[in-house]
Amino acid sequence: MARIVAGIACSHVPAIGAAIDRGITGNAYWDPLFRGYGTAREWLAKLAPDAAIVVYNDHASAFSLDLIPTFLIGVADRFPIADEGFGPRPVPAVEGHPALAWHLAESLILDEFDMTIANRMPVDHGLTVPLSITCGQPASWPFPVVPLCVNVVQYPPPTGARCFKLGRAIAKAVASFASDLRVVVYGTGGMSHQLQGERAGLINRAFDTAFLDGMTRDPMALTRITHTEYMREAGSEGIELVMWHVMRGALDDDAAEVYRHYHVPASNTAAALMILENRSAR
Ligand SMILES: [Fe+2]
Repeated sequence: MARIVAGIACSHVPAIGAAIDRGITGNAYWDPLFRGYGTAREWLAKLAPDAAIVVYNDHASAFSLDLIPTFLIGVADRFPIADEGFGPRPVPAVEGHPALAWHLAESLILDEFDMTIANRMPVDHGLTVPLSITCGQPASWPFPVVPLCVNVVQYPPPTGARCFKLGRAIAKAVASFASDLRVVVYGTGGMSHQLQGERAGLINRAFDTAFLDGMTRDPMALTRITHTEYMREAGSEGIELVMWHVMRGALDDDAAEVYRHYHVPASNTAAALMILENRSAR
């Protein structure tokens, strides 16, 4: 039987990917951020999961405002890297895991989560930057990936509570997959940031710290944060944090925090990386 062994919460700031691609991670601006990533890479290389489910949002790369799936699962063999305006990032295409993805689709939909199914889809920085942060620059990614998109671009995004319940359903689905896979779940996006308007550049370290603490102390309380509270406290793009709830919901209640890195600024956002392990998988 497959099982979820760990969760990774990871900001997906596009400038972080650009810094990696341009080879400038060691300069004065980026070094303090990247120095915090080494431990996570070593941890993940040692864990050597068999597959990952990456919860992220598309940034008008695969979709536009013409089509906005609330929840979507990618079932393809392979996901090409999206061109986000400057050519595709120079990273490997993402290999999918169709057997696991179709099993998840079936289990989730029969569990009353109405997933959109993507047979073909490019993946953008929302998915590739967390892979780069945690895997470095390999010739091919070390594990297949099931992409799972959440709409956080067009109002109304799903609630944190709904996302958490989706995570619960993912855990149930993984547990009923017949192959003996060790799976990690990424929840990407966040932390506090706002990219436009009068409050552009907003960072709320106190909110971010409380949110990180809450991931282990009381994740259910975090699911009650309303969209208005996210907007007010974490900025307009802080709503991306609902995707962390999918990851948290997929883990055991007593999952343990094993690593945390928080840094401001990364571009004009607060960036975090947090690792949680299921105690049952240790
Ligand atoms: Fe994003």
